[in-house]
Amino acid sequence: MTGQNSFFADAATVAEYNKLVAEIRQHDEAYYQDDAPKVSDAEYDSLRRRVEEIEAAYPALVSSSSPTQKVGAAPSKGFKSLEHSVPMLSLGNAFESQDVSDFMDRIRNFLKLSASDVVEIVTEPKIDGLSCSVRYEKGRFVQAATRGDGATGEDITENVRSISDVPKMIEGDVPDILEVRGEIYMRRDEFMRLNAEQEKTGGKIFANPRNAAAGSVRQLNPQVSAARPLRFFGYALGQVSVPIAETQDGIRQKLKLWGFAQAEPQAVCKTVEDILAYYKAVEAKRPDLPYDIDGVVYKVNSLLYQERLGFVARAPRWAIAHKFPAEKAITVLKDIIIQVGRTGALTPVAELEPITVGGVVVSRATLHNEDEIQRKDIRVGDHVVVQRAGDVIPQIVEVLQDKRAPDSKPFNFPHECPICHSHAVREEGEAVWRCTGGLVCPAQAVERLKHFVSRLAFDIEGLGSKIIEEFYAEELIRTPADIFKLEDRDKGSLTPIRKRAGWGDLSANNLFESINKRRVISLPRFIYALGIPQIGEATAKRLAETYLNITVLRHSMHECAEGIGDAYQNLLNIQDVGESVAADLVGFFAEPHNQTILDDLLTQVTVEDFVLVLAKETPVSGKTVVFTGTLVTMSRAEAKATAEGLGAKVAGSVSSKTDYVVAGEDAGSKLTKAKDLGVRVLTEQEWKDLIGN
Ligand code: IVH
Repeated sequence: MTGQNSFFADAATVAEYNKLVAEIRQHDEAYYQDDAPKVSDAEYDSLRRRVEEIEAAYPALVSSSSPTQKVGAAPSKGFKSLEHSVPMLSLGNAFESQDVSDFMDRIRNFLKLSASDVVEIVTEPKIDGLSCSVRYEKGRFVQAATRGDGATGEDITENVRSISDVPKMIEGDVPDILEVRGEIYMRRDEFMRLNAEQEKTGGKIFANPRNAAAGSVRQLNPQVSAARPLRFFGYALGQVSVPIAETQDGIRQKLKLWGFAQAEPQAVCKTVEDILAYYKAVEAKRPDLPYDIDGVVYKVNSLLYQERLGFVARAPRWAIAHKFPAEKAITVLKDIIIQVGRTGALTPVAELEPITVGGVVVSRATLHNEDEIQRKDIRVGDHVVVQRAGDVIPQIVEVLQDKRAPDSKPFNFPHECPICHSHAVREEGEAVWRCTGGLVCPAQAVERLKHFVSRLAFDIEGLGSKIIEEFYAEELIRTPADIFKLEDRDKGSLTPIRKRAGWGDLSANNLFESINKRRVISLPRFIYALGIPQIGEATAKRLAETYLNITVLRHSMHECAEGIGDAYQNLLNIQDVGESVAADLVGFFAEPHNQTILDDLLTQVTVEDFVLVLAKETPVSGKTVVFTGTLVTMSRAEAKATAEGLGAKVAGSVSSKTDYVVAGEDAGSKLTKAKDLGVRVLTEQEWKDLIGN
């Protein structure tokens, strides 16, 4: 009814509308602020539908505060995704002093430095918050994003706008584009006050400052987020249109000058001894700091070195986090259960009498494998010391032998799968027992599905482990393709998902929406999602870079299996692909059941071809290079990383497809082969001239 006469709603409708809006606002608050919805999804949906109906009939009623217009009132939408112009990396971890010297040795080796060259290291606290990238254009704050998967984060601009530590305007000599990366966190005292306040108002109580900060940033309603005591430290850069410094220390001084708070203390160290002394000093200060830290971070000071060092997979070679020792507690081991992983690995898990370790309740700990249980002689009923380090799964570090019951018995590791009862095998030289049930083992199937939807794979929001287990048990989802057929099947179902306990229209539709959003997927993610043994994120990406297209990949794997042409050699030429990885890959694609699953899946999803993104065309783009012999000015690792960074492929062996062989000192058989095949041979210097280095 949108006729001219009815453009203005009558008083009764206006009253109804206002009441509905107020009610929805209350429910939103209960849902988002307190994590405690007061109505079912279905009821909430019907309120919103009624508001939408009224607004459709009387558009004049729509204002910016309408639940249909506000971010915080559109729960099904969540946050917008934002692609990071420069990936947001994470950090590798060091736990022992030895790990720190290893880190320094790796750097020196990679850069091929002599003993007298000094590598300065900037040291700073590792704040226990959540990372955030803040973007400035011409000095003006324009955008803020969470890390997400490192490539794409969530748009939290409006929530970050209210953090006073984040300057909204930077004056002075600022690059046109400047991205500041740092940590959003909450101070301990402010966290305590927030929790006290939450308790009074019946709101959600947070386990620790980190959770409170994360929960507050992820509020869809920016007003709620603004009321929370959030703070920000800036410690690194993302995209910048012009360099702002030559060192990490220079970056932080600039950031300080521009108004970004810095975590203290910071130092520039020159030796491993200096670094470890800094670590000890900060560890001693830790209890007195106003905010939680979980370690310290070491970063190579020279940005030139940082650039040369680059990164591996998700972490830079030039930085590392040195974690503080884990917190420990004593409890009783009630049972040892065996979990079955996606590749059939049987992992023993300790079920514990629940205990708080460092503010988190722990009721399970990993026992790794049979040898670990034997080595520590861990038995059911034992008193054990449990430790928790950061996000790492809790571990049992020690058994209190003097508290052991006299009748306790050593644990016998089972030789069969607890789920499908197929026999288990432990290959020579391996620590792991594996279920041989393969494709018939339901435990493996469920784990593969969980992997398939996980964050670095298909990243299907709302399809968590519990739901996968339930849907698998009820035969709603048995193979990856079933996930994408779910909505259609549900339409004809007598027991539709929205009718399940705890579900409703809203949650069912949200699930279908997040599934449908993932019908188009990049090749690297797709390969990773298949859960092929030994194929992690990095190898998946390399496979994508090599084969560019899913059909080509499958075809080449069959050629490998059949021994056709150079296929197998080409596979082995991919970085980190050795005989064992190759066997798993080829085996996976040769398995008839996997072929059916893949064919079926490909009727549901579109896998985008991989497009090699080169910063610019270089003299070696797309060329295949083999390094051989001893290089003088750079390590083999750096040579390889540089070549790959310029778009070249680095192979381990010479074939007719090789474009260049770079021969260092004492080059042997590869040089001979290159000459035989007429492949162009370069000296180290000629190579550097070619790439303009
Ligand atoms: S530098 C490329 N510095 O730790 C390196 N990170 O475990 C970028 N973090 O994702 C990170 N304090 O969220 C850096 N002083 C600090 C940090 C820090 C905390 C967080 C950050 C990062 C995570 C890695």
